[in-house]
Amino acid sequence: MSQEIFVTKPVLPPFEEYVEYLKDIWDTHNLTNMGKYNRQFIYQLKDYLGVDYCMTLCNGHMALEMLLQAMNLSGEVITTPFTFASTTHAIVRNGLTPVFCDIRESDFTMDPDKIESLITDKTTAIVPVHVYGMPCDIERISAIAKKHNLKVIYDAAHAFGEKVNGESIANAGDASMFSFHATKAFNTIEGGCVVTDDLDVLTRVYQLHNFGIMDEETVEFVGANAKMNEFEAIMGLCNLSHFDENRMKRKALFDYYRERLSKIEGIKLPQYDEANVELNYTYCPIVVDEKEYGMDRNQLHMTLDMNGIHARKYFYPITNEFSCYKDAGFKADVPVATRISRQVLTLPLYTDLELEQVKRICDIIEGAK
Ligand SMILES: Cc1ncc(COP(=O)(O)O)c(C=O)c1O
Repeated sequence: MSQEIFVTKPVLPPFEEYVEYLKDIWDTHNLTNMGKYNRQFIYQLKDYLGVDYCMTLCNGHMALEMLLQAMNLSGEVITTPFTFASTTHAIVRNGLTPVFCDIRESDFTMDPDKIESLITDKTTAIVPVHVYGMPCDIERISAIAKKHNLKVIYDAAHAFGEKVNGESIANAGDASMFSFHATKAFNTIEGGCVVTDDLDVLTRVYQLHNFGIMDEETVEFVGANAKMNEFEAIMGLCNLSHFDENRMKRKALFDYYRERLSKIEGIKLPQYDEANVELNYTYCPIVVDEKEYGMDRNQLHMTLDMNGIHARKYFYPITNEFSCYKDAGFKADVPVATRISRQVLTLPLYTDLELEQVKRICDIIEGAK
């Protein structure tokens, strides 16, 4: 059988580049606690993302959880169930109640037409997700939030380095977080960051991520340990310098996938404003229409699997269907998200994937019909 292909494969920088930094860490013994490489990485990220304030953390989940805590929210938060477990968990672990909003069929992001009817006098924030890096309707969500005096915190775990109309996606809403997990477009092994234009929010995240400690004798907030260590920060410095070049490699694969798959009846691709959106090209989700394609998502998943292609059913099940939430009584009138989650399949896409491999995947999808 040909080589097995998984949905993703972490990007690594040239070995020598990473080792060069390690020598200095061995000399200084500075391993963590806002070390010099972490600080250097934060400055570079701030510049790269074009944001006012940025703060690194141990992973994307803690970035989101601490960002919500720093915002001092209460009551209900409108969010999407078509996401990874982290988004809903971060809301619930902050003692907040998620209210699930349905998604758009076209790009799987929160449907702005469905937000206002979910707002109550208990709503304090909206937490949309740029799922698979597909940008949410930032303008409309901001207008709704402004009208109802709500905070908007983006789960931008999938959207590192993206631009909408020439503007960094990192500047959307009141704040965003990114994930730097090994499988993401840009990785620090484990890691993440918070970005915002509000210095008070950034300062609070900084305090929370180090146990809420203010000085040697004062602990003012119920924080935790969410610090990024120096080994992660140097991985970030190395990977950041190759991010743009890697992004273009993925774009060639992404474009090929879309060209081939758009011609197959029953295979639907997310639609976005291609002329004005720069993605990071890390995900290739497809929606399988059983009637038109002749087999359903699960059958196609199995067919690919038998050929050594390990696509994933991201995002299935949606979070309101998780056993920890299904009986919680959270509002979830989400027919589109429910249907898409049963039809969606995420195909392999990563920097080192070869065009020949993408061709083989497209051939199998074409041939299985
Ligand atoms: C949408 C979304 N939000 C948050 C996270 C959490 O990020 P991390 O894995 O870095 O904790 C992920 C991770 O995959 C994610 O996909």
